[in-house]
Amino acid sequence: MSRGKFIAFEGGEGAGKSTQARLLVDALNARGITADLTREPGGTAGAEAIRALLLHPPKDKSGGDQDQGWGAPAEALLFAAARADHVAKRITPALARGDWVITDRFVDSSRAYQGGAGALGDETITALHKIGSGGLRPDLTILIEADPAQVTKRLAERDGDDSDAIGGRDARYHAEVAASFRALAQADPAGFVIIDGSGTVGEVNAEIMQAITELLGN
Ligand code: TMP
Repeated sequence: MSRGKFIAFEGGEGAGKSTQARLLVDALNARGITADLTREPGGTAGAEAIRALLLHPPKDKSGGDQDQGWGAPAEALLFAAARADHVAKRITPALARGDWVITDRFVDSSRAYQGGAGALGDETITALHKIGSGGLRPDLTILIEADPAQVTKRLAERDGDDSDAIGGRDARYHAEVAASFRALAQADPAGFVIIDGSGTVGEVNAEIMQAITELLGN
């Protein structure tokens, strides 16, 4: 049994990653490939519990000023812990069975959000990933880039006033996330493909199918 392929979708908020990940899984299934659709933070019961802590940090009972959510190091450790559980219990076993795994975000989100925008640096995040998850890399990371104006509109429709602790950070933070993703992709052209997310859902899907041709062995 040959190992399955591992594909990660990355990008800022509202870029269309979840929709495109689902469409890719459907397309793979239609070709007779078993593909597990998962997400980060999350994908296992433990990692989903950590997701809730990360996106909705518990409030200090006093409601005082010290209640400012997680600091950048605690946040990075929690993401790494969630990922360690996800890799050990779900991703690695699926790949070993020969299934493909398609994940909506993986370690490059930690590199862009906590390492880049959160200023912890890439070495720190990479070291945590080595400890937690053996440094596992996707066979291909699909970075979907979206136009900020289009994203603001999509997020307003999706979240309204209900954004989470990370999605609700200011525009400068999210611009740094986008710049970090781009820099990571440009530094590793064999590991990443950059997709323009401004087209229709069908157009973006067609670009993605083109990008994975090699992995399909066609
Ligand atoms: P999402 O799954 O709805 O995109 O929400 C997850 C949020 O968590 C999103 O704001 C990106 C953020 N995130 C990080 O900051 N670091 C990470 O490693 C991951 C996986 C997500």
